[in-house]
Amino acid sequence: MGELSRIGVAIDSDLLDKFDSLIARRGYTNRSEAFRDLIRDELVERTWEAPDSNVVGTVTLVYDHHVRLLNEKLTDLQHEHHRSILSTLHVHLDHDNCLEVLVVRGKSATVRRIADTLISTKGVKHGRLTITTSGAELP
Ligand code: NI
Repeated sequence: MGELSRIGVAIDSDLLDKFDSLIARRGYTNRSEAFRDLIRDELVERTWEAPDSNVVGTVTLVYDHHVRLLNEKLTDLQHEHHRSILSTLHVHLDHDNCLEVLVVRGKSATVRRIADTLISTKGVKHGRLTITTSGAELP
C-alpha cells in the first residue's frame, strides 16, 4: 500500500445526498471506503477490457437437469476448459433445477468465451459472469 493521500472533492449536494443514502444502504460507515471501492471496481472492470489481462471470475448457471444431454454437455465443456475452471460448486435447488458456480481464471478473452459458451448452451435458464480480480495488482 502507498502512502495515504487526502483529496477534496467538489460535488453537487443533491448528488452527495443520493450517494450517502446509497452507501448507507450498502453498509458503509464512511465515504472514504465507499469511494475507494468504487475506484477499485472501475479498475477491475477496465482490466477485463484488455483481452490479454489475467483475470479471475465466477460463472453462475441455473438449469433444469432433465433437459436431455444438458448435464453431459456442460460437463464436457468444463473438461475441455479444465485449465481455466478451477472449481465447480453444484447445488440441487429443487426436484428439477440445479445451480452451478464455477471459479474461472485466465486471460480475459478466454474466460469470457468460456462463460459465453456455457451461458448460451441450450437449456441453461440463467447465467451470469461475475468479474473480479486476484487482488494482486489492486492497492
Ligand atoms: Ni443438481
